Amino acid sequence: MNASLLDEVLTRDVRQRLASPTAEGTALPNACYTSAAWLELERERLFARTWMLAGFCHDIPNPGDAHPVEVGGMPILLLRDDDGTVRAFHNVCRHRGAVMVDKPCSGRKVLTCPYHGWAYGLDGRLRTRPHFHGAGRHEVVGGNEASRAGLAPVRHAVWHDLIFVDIGGKAPDFADHWAPFARRTKDYDFGALRFAKTLTFDVKGNWKLIHENFFDPYHPPVVHPRLEVFAPIALRHETRDEGAWLYNTNGIAEPQDGRGVGMPYYPGLDETGRRTEWYFHLFPTLDFEIWPDQLAVFQLHPVAPNRTIEHIHLYFIGDGATAPAYEANRQAVYDMWAELNTEDFLIVENMQLARISPGFDGGVLSPYWDPAIQRFAQWMTEALSRP
Ligand code: FES
Ligand SMILES: [Fe+2]
Repeated sequence: MNASLLDEVLTRDVRQRLASPTAEGTALPNACYTSAAWLELERERLFARTWMLAGFCHDIPNPGDAHPVEVGGMPILLLRDDDGTVRAFHNVCRHRGAVMVDKPCSGRKVLTCPYHGWAYGLDGRLRTRPHFHGAGRHEVVGGNEASRAGLAPVRHAVWHDLIFVDIGGKAPDFADHWAPFARRTKDYDFGALRFAKTLTFDVKGNWKLIHENFFDPYHPPVVHPRLEVFAPIALRHETRDEGAWLYNTNGIAEPQDGRGVGMPYYPGLDETGRRTEWYFHLFPTLDFEIWPDQLAVFQLHPVAPNRTIEHIHLYFIGDGATAPAYEANRQAVYDMWAELNTEDFLIVENMQLARISPGFDGGVLSPYWDPAIQRFAQWMTEALSRP
């Protein structure tokens, strides 16, 4: 079924154009943005096989905190163990498969299944099974059985506040995966960041259109008049790629309210850093936007081929995140993002409507600005073609 879907969507002509120089190249064809079967394939072959942003340490600040999340459609549980360790499990009971934790909770010593009451420790090991051998004949579980029937752990990695999971367990080493970003951002003291707020948008568009728009430095002059004053196209650079990353950097012509005015900057940033913005896309899970006074983390939850919940998680430097003195400046940032991201999702929703048109076949691309759009399409087809 998958093979025929792939052949139907990625015809020989499409594959040839995907592999051509960008001037004769293409991005992904329409069905990739409209087909429910295609989204299923993405869940199976992409989201479950790579490092995905799952959640945040600030959601589980204390031992005994548990936070259910969904990653590529799968229920995952993030929790903080007694000794402060972050852990990740499949959020599903080993007995009959009930979802273990359906809302955030804290102060837990054990996790008790809502169906028959099996209780697990915060290390995932099974502890007790009530009435397991008949009425009143409870079982206290130990030894191998405690892990054999325990919650299934999920490979995970933590970068500052962000928690990533690799559901399939076979993705490359996280540090290697992360290295291209780490190398380019060594001047930024991310340890100084504090979480401030999450903005949420319900977008009537495919998740890929949102990412593709994110790393497209070509559209701001038309779509974002205010952003164009901040970082005009003359100071923008084409998007490049390394490893699983796409990135570009722009010069800041004029800091503005919500973008570089009134908030603390990253400590020790030199003059170039104070006049630079970075865009990073980590395929296929998230986008980072770095300005001198903030980090914006974009997280997408595909709900349907034509609907995505988009979160922008905003971090500021030190006191900038919480001090009352910066309240008005923080609000300026939230207002700026609401305006900027609305401009973006309106164009995404516009394109989604056109993805049923036979008048569009994946696109005619700019050789200067669009190689990254084509690269993203190549990565998608490589990932989905892997059995
Ligand atoms: S499904 Fe969890 S105890 Fe039965
Ligand atoms: Fe944009």
